[in-house]
Amino acid sequence: MNTTHASPSSAADRYGAEPATLIRLRDVEKSFAQGHSRFYALRRVSLDVPQGEFLTIMGPSGAGKSTLLHMLGMHDSGWTGEYWFLEHEVHRLDPKARARVRNAHIGFVFQSYHLLDDLTVYENLEVPLSYRDVKKSARSGIVCDVLDRFQIVGKKDLYPRQLSGGQQQLVAVARAVVASPKLILADEPTGNLHSEQAREIMELFKELNAGGTTIIQVTHSDVNASYSRRVLTLKDGWIQAEPTTPG
Ligand SMILES: Nc1ncnc2c1ncn2[C@@H]1O[C@H](COP(=O)(O)OP(=O)(O)OP(=O)(O)O)[C@@H](O)[C@H]1O
Ligand SMILES: [Mg+2]
Repeated sequence: MNTTHASPSSAADRYGAEPATLIRLRDVEKSFAQGHSRFYALRRVSLDVPQGEFLTIMGPSGAGKSTLLHMLGMHDSGWTGEYWFLEHEVHRLDPKARARVRNAHIGFVFQSYHLLDDLTVYENLEVPLSYRDVKKSARSGIVCDVLDRFQIVGKKDLYPRQLSGGQQQLVAVARAVVASPKLILADEPTGNLHSEQAREIMELFKELNAGGTTIIQVTHSDVNASYSRRVLTLKDGWIQAEPTTPG
């Protein structure tokens, strides 16, 4: 069977036989009106991501990498095609239901951080935990561990505008991992960091991945890409053919 073009029902059936699949995309497209025509940011994207994958998405600026990551992160509803996340048919869910799935399972590092300006570092890190069934009393221990791990304890009462770009990026990564999500989506997570800090983030991702967390990162860095098990290249919204031999 040509699984790349499996029908929705057969793909759903196949899901039952392959519970190890976390993400299954079929013919996903995203376009914007451009004068009288349309500009396609994603073209017929079909992709399977098993649980435990560490996947890198690369490609030139404007290729559609952030668009794909936002679509996977369920931030965006203006796309067509099919998206299964575990047993959820995301393409059939309304925005509220998508938010529930996202809050339960996904940590997202935005290319431009998107920290909440009116909340301190500590409060920003508490937000993902507030979406889960983590009791208020248990939250502080978890947040303090993460502050410690990222060596930002001294910054916990500051607001994002009082941090450097690199520090905001560290907080953004900390926020993505604080609630131990099943999936981490990271858009250029080390773009503003010193190479040693970048290495530490990649080592952290490697460790989380070894513990079963699925990671999908977008990067322009070959060093960061070398931490992953698979590299996909996007160009003009299309996934390029994967190499048949590793390396
Ligand atoms: N709201 C929008 N309206 C029109 N075009 C858009 C919109 N958002 C994104 N695009 C276009 O979609 C394309 C893909 O953008 P995207 O942000 O996904 O690129 P990228 O691969 O992440 O690039 P970079 O490496 O620079 O971050 C770009 O050509 C961009 O101009
Ligand atoms: Mg981008």
